Formats: sequence, C-alpha cells, structure tokens
Amino acid sequence: MPTFKGHIMVCDVVRDDGAHCGNKGGAEVKAKVMQTISKHKLRSSVYVSSTGCTSQHRLCDMNQCTMIVYGSDGEGTWYVANPDDVETIVQEHIIGGRKVDALVNDGMKIDLENQG
Ligand code: FES
Repeated sequence: MPTFKGHIMVCDVVRDDGAHCGNKGGAEVKAKVMQTISKHKLRSSVYVSSTGCTSQHRLCDMNQCTMIVYGSDGEGTWYVANPDDVETIVQEHIIGGRKVDALVNDGMKIDLENQG
C-alpha cells in the first residue's frame, strides 16, 4: 500500500442548479492542484482526488470550490479556494505543515461532542 505525505480532495460536483462547486470553479481548482504538485515534484507523495458534495458550496463564490486537505497533522482541513489560492495551500499546508487560516472554511463546523 503506498504511503502519501498528503491528500487533497477537490469538490468538482456539477449540478443543474449551477450552484455547486463544479459549476463554480472546481475543475479549474483541481487542474491547478495537479499542476502545482507536479511543479513541486509531489506527484508520487500527494494523492489528489475529487470529493462528493459536503454541503459547503453555498459558502463558495463563483470561482471557488471546497477543498479538503490532509497534511502531516493527519487532520482534514476544509478550505474554500480558487485557483489562485492553490499555490499557497500546497506551499503552506502540504510542504510547510501549517494551515492557511485565511482560507479555512469557517462555516464548516463538526460537533464531535454531540455525535450519536
Ligand atoms: S458541491 Fe462542493 S460542497 Fe457541495
């Protein structure tokens, strides 16, 4: 089983309502992620995949999508990102091991204490 330094999931879900991440830049963000990890020679150590809708697209503007990043901290961080944010996320979170607080999806809340 391969070991990865990170996992980047990009939401590129397209729906007829035009309001989902794939309608608003998800494909462009995913392409930029692939281009950026290639530039940094991380293709074999960072896994990139699409993710399904996590009901966060209402927080994304027209050129943004939801991006979930697992780095060396082993925790998933939800971002709202456009293609211009990808370089920062890869450099800071994947390479540097630091969350990019300015791009974190503050609206994503998980209540671990009240799980059934
Ligand atoms: S379509 Fe991306 S979070 Fe819903």
